[in-house]
Amino acid sequence: MRKADYGRIADTYDASRPLFEEVLELWITIISERVGPRQRVEFLDLGCGTGRFSIPIATRLGYSVTGADNSEEMLEKARNKEDGDRVRWSMQDATRLSCPNASFDVVFMSHLLHHLDEPLDVVGECIRVLRPGGVILNRYGPMEDIRDDPEHRFFPGSVEIDEARTPTVKQVEEWFRVAGFNDISTDVIAQQTYRTAEERLRNAGLRCTSVLTLLDQPAVEEGLEAFRRYVSDNPDDPWLLMDNIALTAGRKTEKMVIENADRS
Ligand SMILES: C[S@@+](CC[C@H](N)C(=O)[O-])C[C@H]1O[C@@H](n2cnc3c(N)ncnc32)[C@H](O)[C@@H]1O
Repeated sequence: MRKADYGRIADTYDASRPLFEEVLELWITIISERVGPRQRVEFLDLGCGTGRFSIPIATRLGYSVTGADNSEEMLEKARNKEDGDRVRWSMQDATRLSCPNASFDVVFMSHLLHHLDEPLDVVGECIRVLRPGGVILNRYGPMEDIRDDPEHRFFPGSVEIDEARTPTVKQVEEWFRVAGFNDISTDVIAQQTYRTAEERLRNAGLRCTSVLTLLDQPAVEEGLEAFRRYVSDNPDDPWLLMDNIALTAGRKTEKMVIENADRS
């Protein structure tokens, strides 16, 4: 799989991926509901990037947050943000975490698994580092929902790349089941990512999703031209503002039932 280079993307990441206060608050509420009331929450944000979620989760929910990523450039951006010192930042490969077994109550991932050749290894690491009763939360754009978004409709080369790497909801739920999680469920949230169509168009020019960074310049230019024409003809089309984002959750059982445990 061709990989997006987050060393280069780091400089434009936050500017090109808006997370408005209302959207952030929506996700913080959903995450806290999924985590439920607990005395102290050790929270791992895996593939944390620039800390778009790690920092507000630490400051607003009071969780003890570790942000882990394998890009030093993304972590550097996170560290230097206001309240960046409220999170422990850690350079980690999600397929081989250095964290001990059973050290977190929650593992959260946002837009991570499609970057990995072996997503099941990552989900396996998540269940290993979770305590019994711990929760996994995966936030992502499922293939069935992103296939017809503007970044795919106007840039058809994106579809081929994402078909090869981006899971459907069914696929993510299957990975969770195979790894041993229980109580698996998915919510698909209609999120207003953009306030205006022009903003989405401008961000496409900044290659606002990793798939756009994998297209060559002529394909991007051609897509931007088609996008521009559409925006000019349909400036108020709500499709240009919205995204469907899934959150798949699972729980590590309190006690693993060991088959034939009383045979000796
Ligand atoms: C699309 S960004 C998401 C960042 C953040 N979670 C967010 O939603 O803003 C994907 C992140 O995954 C990280 N990443 C990719 N492969 C990784 C791996 N094997 N281990 C850890 N992080 C990885 C990238 O460096 C990047 O920061």
